Amino acid sequence: MAAISFVLLPLAFLTLLTPHKAATFTIVNNCSDTLWPAAVPYGGGIHLNSGQTWTFEVPSGTTVGRVWARTGCSFDDSGNGHCETGDCGGKLSCAAYGSPPNTLAEFALNEFSNLDLFDISLVDGYNVGINFSPATASGSCQGQQCAADFVRQCPAALKAPGGCNNPCTVFKTDEYCCYSGSCVPTDYSRFFKNLCPDAYSFPKDDQTDTYSCPAGTDYRVTFCP
Ligand SMILES: *[C@@H]1O[C@H](CO)[C@@H](O)[C@H](O)[C@H]1NC(C)=O
Repeated sequence: MAAISFVLLPLAFLTLLTPHKAATFTIVNNCSDTLWPAAVPYGGGIHLNSGQTWTFEVPSGTTVGRVWARTGCSFDDSGNGHCETGDCGGKLSCAAYGSPPNTLAEFALNEFSNLDLFDISLVDGYNVGINFSPATASGSCQGQQCAADFVRQCPAALKAPGGCNNPCTVFKTDEYCCYSGSCVPTDYSRFFKNLCPDAYSFPKDDQTDTYSCPAGTDYRVTFCP
């Protein structure tokens, strides 16, 4: 008996403590133009020609992860420069979030009930269309997409070089930014919601916009799906 516990107990602890494997994120540039995709807190950022893919690992348990596209960039040989949209402090490899407008793929890995949570958010505006999906979809573990002609249809007050700003970025008021913790849809948030019903259009948007997959799932983010 004692001998069996001696063997089994450490095994049980090992199982409890073994985290899920890291998730592999595959980023696809399906746009006709070059992109400089970025990802934090893991990934950084690179130059990605049309048709190319970029792969990196994200550890299980990572919260507030995001992936976005940068457009109109130029960088020097040491990776310093600037992008028209999504710029992260002028660095090729990002350690900080991007400047609006930028469409966001957001995720938290291995949260409650061993689920990954993920969404597409327009809270920082829109620059490039995104499809955010599990590498292998099954059951309720399905992806989502936001790709529409935001730039051409963008309300005049929200137009920005290379994209369409969220009203919070432009007006910085409680009505659009929900600083006080509660707010309701506006004509501007409805503009975003109509074009991409599954994406977050303002900070307190419907929780059903968040999708889930079992922890350990690998993901694919396709720009210009
Ligand atoms: C890539 O873009 C083309 C249109 O330019 C589209 O037909 C195709 O479905 C896209 N592929 C993926 C994987 O999203």
